[in-house]
Amino acid sequence: MKMHTTKQSLGAALAGERRQGRTIGFVPTMGALHEGHVSLMRRARGENAVVVASIFVNPLQFAPTDDLARYPRSLEADAALAAEAGVDHLFAPEVAEMYPHGSIATRVDVGPIGDIGEGAWRPGFFAGVATVCCKLFHIVAPDRAYFGQKDAQQLAVIRQLVADLDLPLEIVGCPTVREPDGLALSSRNTYLDPEARRAAPALAAALMAARDAAASGEESAEELRWTVKTCLEAEPGIRLQYVDLFDADSFSARERLDGRGILAAAAYVGGTRLIDNVDVVPAALPAEVRGR
Ligand code: PAF
Repeated sequence: MKMHTTKQSLGAALAGERRQGRTIGFVPTMGALHEGHVSLMRRARGENAVVVASIFVNPLQFAPTDDLARYPRSLEADAALAAEAGVDHLFAPEVAEMYPHGSIATRVDVGPIGDIGEGAWRPGFFAGVATVCCKLFHIVAPDRAYFGQKDAQQLAVIRQLVADLDLPLEIVGCPTVREPDGLALSSRNTYLDPEARRAAPALAAALMAARDAAASGEESAEELRWTVKTCLEAEPGIRLQYVDLFDADSFSARERLDGRGILAAAAYVGGTRLIDNVDVVPAALPAEVRGR
């Protein structure tokens, strides 16, 4: 695996790969890699001749009150994991390489999807994600880019970005990887102390209880929210911030489950904010659509 810290070095290496007609798969990350990231890299490895991953903790997607300085950084261990997962080129630029003037004036405005769900609690977050992904897509020029379903709204924002701006790449969504007790893998799990780690799987369990209620015929978003809230009342270590139902394709907010949906939530576990989501499918959908 070749490490690059400059756009120029990565660009030169990828120009050579492209000249030979090799397809490029890209996995953008913020580092602190775990098995979830590794699953994206392996998928990219299986579907492309060349695999590029990036590690860049993007300041544009952190609010001033957020944990940018504290965000876990572990470049050496990350590089070892990426190499083992079959990455050919690892791009790990400093902030000054991506934003030579400290920041940039231009932002990608993602419209209403940026103001609901996660966006309602983290203003500007999705503009920051879309802006850095737009830059990275131009720098890497991949044929495919891989994103986890764990960040379902981010995946929807990136799909919208690529469609709206006619960016010439395919976006591949990949399943959430979970611990055996159900906790979705996340770089932020490293913040959990033993008590918080014990409590954390209750978020996934509550979402899965609501998913089961939907499968048994419950279609009201209010009732599905109530199921999640009630389950979490039994776990004092978790403070739910929101739980909402979204359309699985457009990610617009829904009050009724009238097609495939995503039930997404954020919660504080100790001092750590975790997000998770599950697919919810109405019992009334034909079996072939339900099993999709
Ligand atoms: O999901 C992430 O790690 C980040 O939001 C991404 C897509 C790498 C953009 O900074």
